[in-house]
Amino acid sequence: MAALPLGACGRAPNSKDASTRSSSGSTDPHSHADPTRVRVRHVDLDLELDFEARELRGKARLAVERADSHAPLVLDSHGLAIERVTGTDDSPRTFRLGAGARRLAGETANAPTASLGDALTIELAPADRSVTVHYHTTEAAEALQWLAPAQTAGGNSPFLFTQGQSVLTRTWIPLQDSPGVRVTYSARVRAPRGLTPLMSAEQLGQGDDGAFRFQMKQAIPPYLIALACGDLTFRPVSARAGIWAEPAIIESARAEFEDTEAMIAAAEELFGPYRWERYDILVLPPSFPFGGMENPRLTFATPTVIAGDKSLVALIAHELAHSWSGNLVTNATWRDFWLNEGFTVYFENRIMERVYGAERARMEMQLNRAELEREMATMEPWQQVLHTDLGTRHPDDGFSGVPYNKGALFLQAIEAAFGREAFDRFLRRWFDEHAFQSVTTAEFRAFLQSELLDQNPSAARAIDVEEWLTQPGLPKGTPDPRSPLLEAVDRQIERWRETQSADTLQTSRWSTQEWLHFLEAIAGDVDAAGLAELDRRFALTDAGNAEILSVWLRLSIQRGYAATDEALERFLLGIGRRKFLTPLYTQLAATPAGRARALEIYREARGRYHAVARGTIDGVLGWNE
Ligand code: BES
Ligand code: ZN
Repeated sequence: MAALPLGACGRAPNSKDASTRSSSGSTDPHSHADPTRVRVRHVDLDLELDFEARELRGKARLAVERADSHAPLVLDSHGLAIERVTGTDDSPRTFRLGAGARRLAGETANAPTASLGDALTIELAPADRSVTVHYHTTEAAEALQWLAPAQTAGGNSPFLFTQGQSVLTRTWIPLQDSPGVRVTYSARVRAPRGLTPLMSAEQLGQGDDGAFRFQMKQAIPPYLIALACGDLTFRPVSARAGIWAEPAIIESARAEFEDTEAMIAAAEELFGPYRWERYDILVLPPSFPFGGMENPRLTFATPTVIAGDKSLVALIAHELAHSWSGNLVTNATWRDFWLNEGFTVYFENRIMERVYGAERARMEMQLNRAELEREMATMEPWQQVLHTDLGTRHPDDGFSGVPYNKGALFLQAIEAAFGREAFDRFLRRWFDEHAFQSVTTAEFRAFLQSELLDQNPSAARAIDVEEWLTQPGLPKGTPDPRSPLLEAVDRQIERWRETQSADTLQTSRWSTQEWLHFLEAIAGDVDAAGLAELDRRFALTDAGNAEILSVWLRLSIQRGYAATDEALERFLLGIGRRKFLTPLYTQLAATPAGRARALEIYREARGRYHAVARGTIDGVLGWNE
């Protein structure tokens, strides 16, 4: 790995020798920590949730392992107010909060935007086996979103949730915030009466002191430590799975996700036992910036997947699959992100096939590949590479359909070459032999070579691993899934073009996937009159399905179909999911009038979005107020 520039900080206290390697076999350019010298093994949190001050307050006790008894403990911290630090004997330890060695492209000492935060360096006494950091969060805690009651389904109680991935856990907990540094954790959380705090951990219940207790006994990467709190209620869907949501939406959520147990069972048959005991889903308010987040034991999900017909539950299959690919076997650094997401999209699709049939799975793969190709056409070559070189870029700069869909296509190509049986055996061993470890792309490559390619050299000739991992674009022979149902939609589109009448379309049995395929297929040449006719016939502006509505709104902006204006505004003000916001604001920003309108809406909406979405849309609109 190339040496990083030291930026404004001349002599970094934690600058790493290029030869040092963490036990996961890599160094992480997005963390200040040097776990080869002092490594955090356990995090014990004691936090009070103050909704008035919008602040978390308390302490984190970190148990450490000291390979180098002279080295200080170096943590990541971003926007935390550190009050004091004590050692194992409870007496004070000196600490300094410095800019540290890590800087991102475009950052200077004066403008550390989107930064990796500060190194919190703590001098340890010889007998220290732990330190306790007393602190509170600040407005700069980008992981946290504090919601006013009006932003919730019930409208009566406030809500809080965290989003740690990729490098935001350091904004609410001081720790070694690298996916290569796995920790167990425990927590004691005090929340206002009537609100239920939940964490990505086992629930130990409420003590006599009124505080809620949690523990995660399995070692996880820090980005999976998660907390939410609000007016929440629970419905089981099986003995080990259930749904948490606000009372106003719990019934619809339970019905939508009633196949969760079938998904877990399918996943276990494919790739081995579910190792986290419980699998619950927490449905968040609509400002949640992602579709889903695979927090262990407790997937966080957007309410926009509740379509009423289970048509978007691939998202649950996806987050569940992360219980193997991502949470059990974790990308060691953010360069290896495709190991998390590519494996998960592949695995998600296998679950969908088992639970909902081959045709549903094929439709979703075909849509994924089509979306990847549209996206890659606009991307720079470096962004199209699976094992991308982030250099000094922020981890989120590597976020795109490439790690997801190109990653999944890579695994499908291997499956096609070696056969499903051999590939399934290989994947199962991959998970078993790397369980609770953080792994690099190089480790995967070596394992693939010895366990699969070398076993069957003639099949191996079909796969150019080097090209898949290091080159832009899609290799020759990339799997090209074709769904008969989507091909039937193509034939209908042809007829529609010939007759110029939406009445010729037979859509009554179309699934969400067919609608999405239809809308993307006509995007290139439909005009405003065509959209008006489709709307008259199919009432798309009133679509209750957020995926369909978001594509429809994008087309409407693009083609100047103004009848959707109000629906667009409602959507942008009501939903904070980045995947929906980005294309809509981008499409608006394509014309001067659209951009003016986007800014007007964003002025009102910005405060309702999570920092992650705000960061992206600020960039899209050149916002700097
Ligand atoms: N782990 C990701 C979300 C994520 C990635 C958060 C990178 C922060 C940084 C999650 O599993 C995910 O991929 N969610 C997708 C859903 C999916 C079905 C592709 C999403 O949010 O849209
Ligand atoms: Zn994912």
